[in-house]
Amino acid sequence: MAKPPANDFAPKALLAALRAVAEPTRLRIFALCQRVELSVSDLTQILGQSQPRVSRHLKVLCAADVLERLREGTYAFYRVPTVGIGPALAKALLPLYGGTELEIKALQDLKQRRYELASTLSAANGEKLRALRRYYPDEHKIDQALLRALPVDSVRDLLDIGTGVGHMLELFGPRVTHAMGIDLSRDMLSLARAKLTLADLQNCRVQQADMYQLPLPPESVDAVTIHHVLHFAERPAQVIAEAARMLRALGRLVIVDFVEHDLQKIRDGFQHRWPGFQPSAVQAWCEEAGLQVTDLDIIHDPAKPLKIFILTAQRSQKNSPRKRPKAA
Ligand SMILES: C[S@@+](CC[C@H](N)C(=O)[O-])C[C@H]1O[C@@H](n2cnc3c(N)ncnc32)[C@H](O)[C@@H]1O
Repeated sequence: MAKPPANDFAPKALLAALRAVAEPTRLRIFALCQRVELSVSDLTQILGQSQPRVSRHLKVLCAADVLERLREGTYAFYRVPTVGIGPALAKALLPLYGGTELEIKALQDLKQRRYELASTLSAANGEKLRALRRYYPDEHKIDQALLRALPVDSVRDLLDIGTGVGHMLELFGPRVTHAMGIDLSRDMLSLARAKLTLADLQNCRVQQADMYQLPLPPESVDAVTIHHVLHFAERPAQVIAEAARMLRALGRLVIVDFVEHDLQKIRDGFQHRWPGFQPSAVQAWCEEAGLQVTDLDIIHDPAKPLKIFILTAQRSQKNSPRKRPKAA
């Protein structure tokens, strides 16, 4: 997600990458990780090889930058990165090697296992969500308004902060080149990963990270979404400042949250840190972060007590990158 795509590589890097994949197991691993993010134990099962062997091959592939490793608690997931020699090589090689029937079947089984995990986790999560949804306008209506708020014609890289089960990735993923969701919760991430695998959204990734310290370089995305996250945030202004730091020139930030309300039972029942926000306060935080608010939509269903705001803010053409905000 960081740099513009490179299409010319130093011979040394190219040869290292070619050498890394020029081995039967490593070629298979490379092809598998292009389709789905996989852990060592996923690969051990699919390939029928021991964990130390698989780990050794992964080390070689990562050293040559054709795969990247993402830690998540005690787990690590491997995938082809979105920029650099890895995706260029995948594009060139993988049409020539689609994987064996056995591997394709094993990937299907993996999708099924992830789906089963997703169903178990979403039972608990879904119940809570359904309870909250009774209080605010129809999600579909909000999604439609979001699609209008963020036209994706100029979005190559999208970042979704506090992605939860990946709803924003499902909505925008099919419309952008790359989408990345970050969240602190491993349960949420495994559910999101399962949903993305099932939906075959290969351009979408999730990663464990803290929204106050995003693991991306400044100015590395064209759009950021913060959907139903700010009311949980201890320091919402800082989340916005950190999001703004990630935006390229003319990049857009879209924030969806509750308009400030006085329903204490919702704050208490759902452990919300804030009772929603006045959009003017969010606008001020965006401006402090160097963004210009370009649109504000309030969505209201007279039959429901809570209103939703969708605020869009844009980075100017020539802002210089901002430093990471200091912790309050
Ligand atoms: C209500 S959920 C919203 C999920 C998603 N955006 C959606 O609308 O479906 C809020 C999410 O914010 C995440 N979150 C809370 N604090 C966070 C932090 N410091 N860094 C990253 N994610 C955080 C939670 O784990 C949770 O998944």
